[in-house]
Amino acid sequence: MKFALLAVIASTVAAGVNAHAIPLENAYVDTSVTVENLRRSLPNSPKGYTPTYQNCPQNAPVVRSAASLSPNETRWLQKRRNSTIAPMRNLLSRLNIQNFNATQYIDRVASNASALPNIGIAVSGGGWRALMNGAGALKAFDSRTANSTAKGKLGGLLQSATYLSGLSGGSWLVGSLYINNFTTVGALQAETSGSVWEFGNSVIEGPEKSGIQIFNTAEYYANLVSDVDGKANAGFNTSLTDLWGRALSYQLINASEGGPAYTWSSIGISAPFLNADAPYPIIIADSRAPGEKLISSNTTIYEFNPYEMGSWDPTSFGFVPMNHLGTNWTAGRVPANEKCVVGFDNAGFLMGTSSTLFNQLILQLNDTGIPDALRNLVADLLTGLGDDNNDIADYTPNPFYRYNPQTNPSANSTRLTLVDGGEDLENIPLHPLIQPNRHVDVIFAVDSSADTAFHWPNGTSIVATYERSLSAIANGTDFPSIPDVNTIVNLGLNTRPTFFGCDTSNFTGGTTIPPLVVYIPNSPYTTFSNVSTFQLETNNTQRDAIILNGLNVATMANGTRDTTWPTCVACAILSRSLERTNTEVPQACTSCFNRFCWDGTLNSTKPANYNPMPVLQTVNLQSGGSKLLPRWAVAAAAAALGYHAM
Ligand SMILES: *[C@@H]1O[C@H](CO)[C@@H](O)[C@H](O)[C@H]1NC(C)=O
Ligand SMILES: *[C@@H]1O[C@H](CO)[C@@H](O)[C@H](O)[C@H]1NC(C)=O
Ligand SMILES: *[C@@H]1O[C@H](CO)[C@@H](O)[C@H](O)[C@H]1NC(C)=O
Ligand SMILES: *[C@@H]1O[C@H](CO)[C@@H](O)[C@H](O)[C@H]1NC(C)=O
Ligand SMILES: *[C@@H]1O[C@H](CO)[C@@H](O)[C@H](O)[C@H]1NC(C)=O
Ligand SMILES: *[C@@H]1O[C@H](CO)[C@@H](O)[C@H](O)[C@H]1NC(C)=O
Ligand SMILES: *[C@@H]1O[C@H](CO)[C@@H](O)[C@H](O)[C@H]1NC(C)=O
Ligand SMILES: *[C@@H]1O[C@H](CO)[C@@H](O)[C@H](O)[C@H]1NC(C)=O
Ligand SMILES: *[C@@H]1O[C@H](CO)[C@@H](O)[C@H](O)[C@H]1NC(C)=O
Ligand SMILES: *[C@@H]1O[C@H](CO)[C@@H](O)[C@H](O)[C@H]1NC(C)=O
Ligand SMILES: *[C@@H]1O[C@H](CO)[C@@H](O)[C@H](O)[C@H]1NC(C)=O
Ligand SMILES: *[C@@H]1O[C@H](CO)[C@@H](O)[C@H](O)[C@H]1NC(C)=O
Repeated sequence: MKFALLAVIASTVAAGVNAHAIPLENAYVDTSVTVENLRRSLPNSPKGYTPTYQNCPQNAPVVRSAASLSPNETRWLQKRRNSTIAPMRNLLSRLNIQNFNATQYIDRVASNASALPNIGIAVSGGGWRALMNGAGALKAFDSRTANSTAKGKLGGLLQSATYLSGLSGGSWLVGSLYINNFTTVGALQAETSGSVWEFGNSVIEGPEKSGIQIFNTAEYYANLVSDVDGKANAGFNTSLTDLWGRALSYQLINASEGGPAYTWSSIGISAPFLNADAPYPIIIADSRAPGEKLISSNTTIYEFNPYEMGSWDPTSFGFVPMNHLGTNWTAGRVPANEKCVVGFDNAGFLMGTSSTLFNQLILQLNDTGIPDALRNLVADLLTGLGDDNNDIADYTPNPFYRYNPQTNPSANSTRLTLVDGGEDLENIPLHPLIQPNRHVDVIFAVDSSADTAFHWPNGTSIVATYERSLSAIANGTDFPSIPDVNTIVNLGLNTRPTFFGCDTSNFTGGTTIPPLVVYIPNSPYTTFSNVSTFQLETNNTQRDAIILNGLNVATMANGTRDTTWPTCVACAILSRSLERTNTEVPQACTSCFNRFCWDGTLNSTKPANYNPMPVLQTVNLQSGGSKLLPRWAVAAAAAALGYHAM
């Protein structure tokens, strides 16, 4: 039933049937669909994975300057900012700041978007570990999660947020939620059709033949080959990233054959997005020219949002419409003889682009036992670029060819090649959220990096973002001061949430006040969530244990590890807004800032090996040696496990 309907929508979209008037002002697609029949992101690429050349629309798409937000984003934000008011009022009142009436405050500032708190959430890279730990945080923040709006819980933060960014493993999480109709983490965990979030089935073997996955491993391989060959035969450059993105889609997109026709731009015409029920999703990648070995911290960072792909950096400094990615622009225009492309922005390809570090997994597909066609394809893709470049995603023709030639290092290249968004060490996708045009007030930064010997984060990522903000490439992206990683480990700032940038009087140099950063590092509560970035197979028991751990990380075990945490989250959300409206900071918030803000203290001596023990009792995985519970944590363990059901 479900898929028959989708097929109808797909063919309607593909055929460009103009049966109904566009009901919303901001529905931008020329193919007309009503909100009622729009149910999820769409398999709207006419030829599946293969991009299609079409005549350009009358107003051919152009590259626009990054000087401002896109008109599409601006218009969408009006709707979204409004729809965050009720969830925010609800959340902040529930988080209960003593002697402060949050309901009254939000009502007072509701009519003024520039006074209202503007929230971003960023989910780092780190493979499946990052997807799962990040999923735990989003599950905690999602008011749709059972019992997440009880006292002391953070449900509603996702509904209150304006932006949600993901990188590499974090991009899988963001993409998987949005391509699947902005579903919930709990629903993806509960999905039994065998087609999504079955991380026990490695990408090397593919899904099990069950539910809607009607393919066995041999057919899986054959599909990968035919999808990538199809794109190549249509004249597009392909790389290992194409294979990787296709393989990944079988785990992340709840559709048969890994949903080859699902495009990223179709998020922009899906009901949850059009209704502004969800934050604005953004994933990122770094540019790296073939042959370039080390990626420098001032490499151009590209973002992919539902409307556009491009960069805010003062290099290419431009954006192209997402649905026409793959088109050959020159100096910002489509030459008269050129066609426009659709279907290049395959959702799996984009998630693969953000995570090209994992292309090396695909190299295992040239082992013996793999069919010749696939082994030959891997070998071909490798000879195309050479081993050193096996992590490159090919965005040729370069949309920014001859665009901003004075500043754009790749302006004279007909190729644009991108790599994993974490390769510049900025493993948390903060870049889109610190753009002055976006005016974000607070960023909940979930860090699942594997920096230390035991795969825990040590702040390397936020240090990299801070350092970039001091360099010429920053272009107005101010960022709070971050201490060196030794200090972060010595002060334990990677063992619990920490606020950076609390005191705005410290930002005298910059032109803007950067967001407050709520740094939320992965740490053990109920399981050792520090599995290797390259752990290829995670069964559902361990998957759910890591998600539960992530939920505990974000909520500090539902406020039981630190009873002030829920209130302090509210204070972090309100901080910049209170300042803008000249509202006195409640005493409870001052206490929070004293407790959670990094105060400038340094201790740069080399720390001992960082090897934390779980805060709560670990959940049983297999042998399950249980550990002693701290007294304060007894109640929390029970409450936290209650979450597990959803
Ligand atoms: C998408 O989500 C909405 C809201 O939860 C729901 O009403 C709708 O049925 C979903 N559509 C699909 C195709 O799952
Ligand atoms: C703002 O949101 C409220 C509640 O969701 C809705 O009733 C109202 O129509 C919205 N206003 C605008 C201008 O969109
Ligand atoms: C907070 O303000 C709202 C509306 O202004 C009012 O209805 C409510 O009673 C107040 N709550 C408290 C605890 O004072
Ligand atoms: C990046 O940094 C290098 C070394 O400092 C410099 O030569 C180069 O011009 C910078 N590139 C950009 C785009 O700022
Ligand atoms: C950002 O870069 C663009 C393009 O180089 C430039 O026009 C703009 O003035 C820069 N903005 C800031 C705040 O430096
Ligand atoms: C909105 O986005 C669509 C798709 O990228 C594009 O065709 C359209 O021109 C954009 N509208 C405006 C006003 O920028
Ligand atoms: C697979 O590829 C790797 C890396 O290019 C190469 O070293 C290896 O020999 C190949 N194995 C097979 C079986 O082709
Ligand atoms: C794109 O257009 C340029 C000329 O503007 C041309 O040199 C190049 O070959 C074209 N690329 C492709 C892939 O068609
Ligand atoms: C690209 O070529 C143009 C014209 O030949 C030149 O002016 C410009 O400096 C070049 N840009 C780069 C980044 O090499
Ligand atoms: C922090 O992580 C980096 C890798 O990201 C590592 O090189 C460094 O040794 C680590 N330092 C500490 C103190 O953990
Ligand atoms: C305040 O700014 C200075 C100069 O950038 C920096 O050294 C210091 O660490 C900052 N303090 C805090 C608490 O962020
Ligand atoms: C819901 O959360 C509350 C507060 O943490 C807890 O007391 C209660 O047992 C939870 N209920 C369920 C069904 O998990």
